[in-house]
Amino acid sequence: MLDSPTLVHGPKAVAFEHDFAAFTGAPYAVSVANCTAAMHLFYFSMGLGCGDEVIVPAQTHTATAHAVELTGARPVFVDAEPRTGNIDIEQIESAITPRTRAIAVVHFLGAPVAMERVVAIAQKYGLRVVEDCALALGTRINGRHAGLYGDCGCFSFYPVKHMTTAEGGMLVTRDETIAARVRAQRAFSVDRNAGERILPGMYEVTGLGFNYRMSELQAALGIEQLKRVNTFLEIRKRNYELLAQELADIDELEVLQGDHSGTQCSYYCLSVLVKEGSAHKRNEIMLGLKRNGIGTSIYYPKPVPHMAYYRTKYGYTDRDFPVAARISSRTIALPVGPHLTSDDMRYIAAGLKKTIREVR
Ligand SMILES: Cc1ncc(COP(=O)(O)O)c(C=O)c1O
Repeated sequence: MLDSPTLVHGPKAVAFEHDFAAFTGAPYAVSVANCTAAMHLFYFSMGLGCGDEVIVPAQTHTATAHAVELTGARPVFVDAEPRTGNIDIEQIESAITPRTRAIAVVHFLGAPVAMERVVAIAQKYGLRVVEDCALALGTRINGRHAGLYGDCGCFSFYPVKHMTTAEGGMLVTRDETIAARVRAQRAFSVDRNAGERILPGMYEVTGLGFNYRMSELQAALGIEQLKRVNTFLEIRKRNYELLAQELADIDELEVLQGDHSGTQCSYYCLSVLVKEGSAHKRNEIMLGLKRNGIGTSIYYPKPVPHMAYYRTKYGYTDRDFPVAARISSRTIALPVGPHLTSDDMRYIAAGLKKTIREVR
């Protein structure tokens, strides 16, 4: 509930940052307009620009690449590994050049990236690490929350995420200097916000910056949603496990791996891949499910470098990034969200089996 007349720069955003830091274990949390803004802010704060390069997974939302591109730097894409859809860590070093300044990773659909290995490569070459945690609220690696291995972790509170503020995002970091810089640059780099001004309206501008703030309305929503996140995560896990079990005997499908030893997935959805031989049936299966009232989606429709903008600008072709392309063309994302029950999972599994029989 909003109990102050302040709509921006107020106590709710501060309280939400405090609660989010406590939930993730982050020393610093900075609320922002959305996850894309969080990543862009971080790159801007490190002075990324023309002539620089950032390693970016090919299998992600375009936001991960756009955040680099917006600074004038170039995203250098690396293919996915087939089990999880996460960046293929084996291929990172060969993509590094003298121009590389950072490595971006995405915990794909909440599946934890092996962060120790990524951080070791980054340290070897003196690179920054950005964790795109848009789908990874609740993802943990050896007990540490995703976003706290790299220099920053960027979260999204867009409506279909693990929790929502309608639009919104959070940047977490273990580094006080990064936190202070992005805090200033998310609000024009003015030295005093409204509540801190001795003479009303008087402030200094100490650098460039954006308007990437989160409003008090969004923060108030965030505080309430965050209280329910553990319950949401438990239901997601239960739904995911039940659905995976129900689908285990469908020969045409392969389930993308979520967590593995020592890790915890956020179970954003259950992504099945339609196997070789049946792959051309993917769209028919999705339409069949839709007719039965089962909502599905695709993460993501194409590898980002196959999208028209990146293909035209950098000359990528369909032959590049074969693993990401295989996932994109075969995946069906099935819902496991907290609004769904065990019976819904059984209904989805039965609907999938029926539809596959029909399109065989
Ligand atoms: C992996 C990934 N990163 C970033 C984003 C962008 O998040 P936002 O809409 O909060 O900017 C998304 C959106 O779905 C996403 O899936």
